[in-house]
Amino acid sequence: MTTKTSWSRRWKTALAIGLTLGTLNMNASEPTPPALKLVASQRPLVIGHRGYCQIAPENTLPSFKLALTAGADLVELDYYHSRDGKLVVIHDGELDRTTDATNRWHQKKIRVETKTAAELQSLDAGSWFDPKYAGTRIPLLTEALDAIQQGGVTLIERKGGPPADCIQILREKHLINQVVVQSFDWEYIRAFHEQEPEQVLGALGPPGRFPDGRKLSDDDKQLNARWLDEVLKTGAKVVVWSDKVSREAVQLAHQRGLRVWVYTIDAPSQANKLLDMGVDGLITNNTSLIRKTLALRGQ
Ligand code: G3P
Ligand code: CA
Repeated sequence: MTTKTSWSRRWKTALAIGLTLGTLNMNASEPTPPALKLVASQRPLVIGHRGYCQIAPENTLPSFKLALTAGADLVELDYYHSRDGKLVVIHDGELDRTTDATNRWHQKKIRVETKTAAELQSLDAGSWFDPKYAGTRIPLLTEALDAIQQGGVTLIERKGGPPADCIQILREKHLINQVVVQSFDWEYIRAFHEQEPEQVLGALGPPGRFPDGRKLSDDDKQLNARWLDEVLKTGAKVVVWSDKVSREAVQLAHQRGLRVWVYTIDAPSQANKLLDMGVDGLITNNTSLIRKTLALRGQ
């Protein structure tokens, strides 16, 4: 039965979505690109961190496919530039932890940008996680996008390099606003926004240091009005923060037209606390468990 309250809630939701779409410069007569729909969503999003990295090697095609199968709204990945300027999907700047580079090349701490894409793709990026993933390769960003965008939306995190190469790939593949792009480097976000103002961007925080080089105290790491005002200046539409958020900070973000996504949340108890605060998305290593947590709340 439709009650007066539920209609009122629906109107409020519709108004909120309308306002959000308005701030995103959307035209109601054109189909809404997926990234814009997700950013305007009134239900909390589940975002698979490095794919479904609890059950498959992070940042690989099997991990991305499992996150999609488990119902992730977005699938997160990290990229660097190879020596020959290709964008390659890997989290660490060094190859030791998630590949067999140390054994293959008899050297520790080899950096991603010192090897060509072909060399990087000759590595085994699966055995370290489980022998059944032996031979799994480091994907190029283009390969990861081809896999994820078939039915999903990619949350691209830039770990190194300028925005131009990523923008070129997104333009060539007609993926502007079919994905979301984020970085801890707010200068990168600012530059990306200047070069491609339509693309939805996320500012990751808290930053490692203040612009003057000072380290952040625990208090400084809390999301607050000051950080939010800085995020607004970058052109980002999403603030992607650690669990150092509060109900008040989420409200302040919403008042500024920003969405709040929180990383990396695997425990239902923590997810529930954050959802009670009104966060808009949870980045998780365990997509299925966070999906179940939302389902149990009727979300
Ligand atoms: O998406 C948020 C999260 O990925 C940021 O941290 O170190 O896992 O890239 P990290
Ligand atoms: Ca990441």
